[in-house]
Amino acid sequence: MAKYVYLNSRFTKHSHAKIHIEDRGLQFADSVYEVIPIYNKKLIDTKFHLQRLRFSLSELDIEYKVNDKQLIDIFCKLINTNNIKNGIIYLQITRGVQQRSHVYKNNLKPTVIIYSQSKSFNIPDKNFKGVEVITHEDLRWSRADLKTVNLLPNILAENLAHKKNKYTAILIKNNKITEGAHSNIWIIKKNKIFTHPVNNDILKGVTRTVLKLIIKKMGFIFKENSFTKEQLYKADEVFLTSSGSFITPILKIDSKTINSGEIGDITLKLATLYFKSIKNEKA
Ligand code: PDD
Repeated sequence: MAKYVYLNSRFTKHSHAKIHIEDRGLQFADSVYEVIPIYNKKLIDTKFHLQRLRFSLSELDIEYKVNDKQLIDIFCKLINTNNIKNGIIYLQITRGVQQRSHVYKNNLKPTVIIYSQSKSFNIPDKNFKGVEVITHEDLRWSRADLKTVNLLPNILAENLAHKKNKYTAILIKNNKITEGAHSNIWIIKKNKIFTHPVNNDILKGVTRTVLKLIIKKMGFIFKENSFTKEQLYKADEVFLTSSGSFITPILKIDSKTINSGEIGDITLKLATLYFKSIKNEKA
């Protein structure tokens, strides 16, 4: 079956979708994006993603008005037409096309790219898997809170991890763990849960936001504190959160094994509760 995508107000075949060579997204990474999970044909936490999209656009002064209803209609059409059961919606908005210049013009027409991709998720059932990761210097710019496609430092760190047969890279800035190359990171020590506070050094993950609500509701002790590589190595449990992979337990970091290489009880509990919230999401 032909795969359809949405590009600049039109649905078109995947193979026919083309971008102008002077699109600022291509030339300058002058562009923002979102990845929205689809589980059992349902979009997950779309409102939070569109809120963050508005924030990224406004911080970069990209003139695109987010219309939730219109976007959700497009997402749903793609899910149905492309017959996606589990996967993601990828949405990217660039500032638009103009003759190459560092200075952008006002009133450009933003390029809007939306497509769907099937993927399977690591869910907390009998096949729930943990992963091994490496640590790597965080070489990103100082607005990691914006979801831009300016992702080269993430890509380089991730590929180094893959060359070593590891799942991903955990980023370190000024001796503090910030986040993963495409996820937020959490540690558990003596039954207390920690993750990096929201500031310019990390992306305010939607999965992070939703899990935080679950953690508070369950009454766990939770602190938004940054932590060092030593604290990471010595944690009782470590896990990642992301819309592209939900909750992922970490069993080894560099040469340090976490929790004797087993998925920890609290991680499993949180993954189960988070997964339950997804299954209860309204269509
Ligand atoms: N990445 N931090 C970074 C650097 C990320 O790229 C992501 C998500 C997250 C988690 O955010 P959320 O829970 O909203 O997905 C944190 C997406 C999935 C990606 O780039 O593919």
